[in-house]
Amino acid sequence: MRAITRVPGVSFTRGLSPRVWVLAVLAGGPLSSGLATAQTPEEDFKACMVCHTVGRGRLVGPDLIGINDRRDQAWLIPYIVSSQTVINSGDEYAVKIFEENNKLVMPDSGLSEAQVIALLEYIKNAPAEGYGLMPAGPTNPATAAEIALGRDLFEGQVSLTNGGPACNSCHDVTGDFLIGGGVLARELTKVFSRLGGPGVRAIIGSPPFPVMQKAYEDRPLTEDEVNALVGFLEKSNTDQASHMPRDTGFKLALTGILGAALLLAMYSMFWPTRKRASVNQAIYDRQVKSI
Ligand code: HEC
Ligand code: HEC
Repeated sequence: MRAITRVPGVSFTRGLSPRVWVLAVLAGGPLSSGLATAQTPEEDFKACMVCHTVGRGRLVGPDLIGINDRRDQAWLIPYIVSSQTVINSGDEYAVKIFEENNKLVMPDSGLSEAQVIALLEYIKNAPAEGYGLMPAGPTNPATAAEIALGRDLFEGQVSLTNGGPACNSCHDVTGDFLIGGGVLARELTKVFSRLGGPGVRAIIGSPPFPVMQKAYEDRPLTEDEVNALVGFLEKSNTDQASHMPRDTGFKLALTGILGAALLLAMYSMFWPTRKRASVNQAIYDRQVKSI
């Protein structure tokens, strides 16, 4: 077992408001820049590799082997430039595979038409062993200690070694041990069912989404941290059914208490005026009428 260092003092979520940090990231404009563009098709394919292999099986998205036979260039080019634009235009096939892949958004590539054509050529000429990585996870299932570490890292109770932000500054996971999280990105409770183990590992290991990528590019997660987080997300996926009701109950109770406090505060602010203006006025009016 490796040692788990609990870093005392300022963790990301405690030190600085996550929302402030997220706004700072957004202000940096990574959303509009799309994936980084490189020179050669081989370099360009690296941006796809987190989610696709060629001939090595499904990862986050479909295996791209034979894509040039499945679809023609008139469809492939705009799709690879911006799949969401094609989906939003109502293209039947694009909508269908989007649904089949649990609406996982493929980020815009930021590639030019010429670069996409070269990339498709590169895919077509893939050698027999294909291209791409299937991330190899640990052979043993995550231990209880790893799962606990994963939860603490997710929540920001334990700081990430290289100083990246806690996951819950953007994501939420439902469980009776967590009090909510960010809503900027998807809720991750069932991400394991959605993407499968290799997919989740690939995304956490090298995030393909611009905002998340920006957050970790200079502060990558360590392998141990990736293992712990994958273990935690797998566990929350399995536990999901049993956690839901308790969590909802707790959230309801909390909302109730906060709501009551807010009402009391409002009463104390508005009560004096209310009394004179409405109650006394009403009695006065009634008496005036009855004369
Ligand atoms: C974040 C993961 C991700 C990245 C990065 C990504 N894709 Fe995808 N891709 C997907 C998913 C998921 C689908 C399935 C459709 C959907 O959910 O939108 C898909 C679908 C496709 C399809 C259609 C596949 C078929 O069987 O019809 C092609 C072609 C494709 N991607 C090419 C690329 C290329 C080229 C790149 C790199 C420039 C790339 N993708 C980057 C996730 C990704
Ligand atoms: C700066 C914000 C940010 C942080 C911090 C962040 N993410 Fe993400 N993450 C995103 C965005 C944006 C996406 C793209 C899809 C979406 O909207 O959820 C994403 C997508 C994902 C996905 C794929 C979800 C799906 O079903 O499409 C996983 C898994 C994931 N993140 C895990 C993590 C983990 C684990 C951490 C902590 C190490 C983390 N993220 C930290 C912003 C963030």
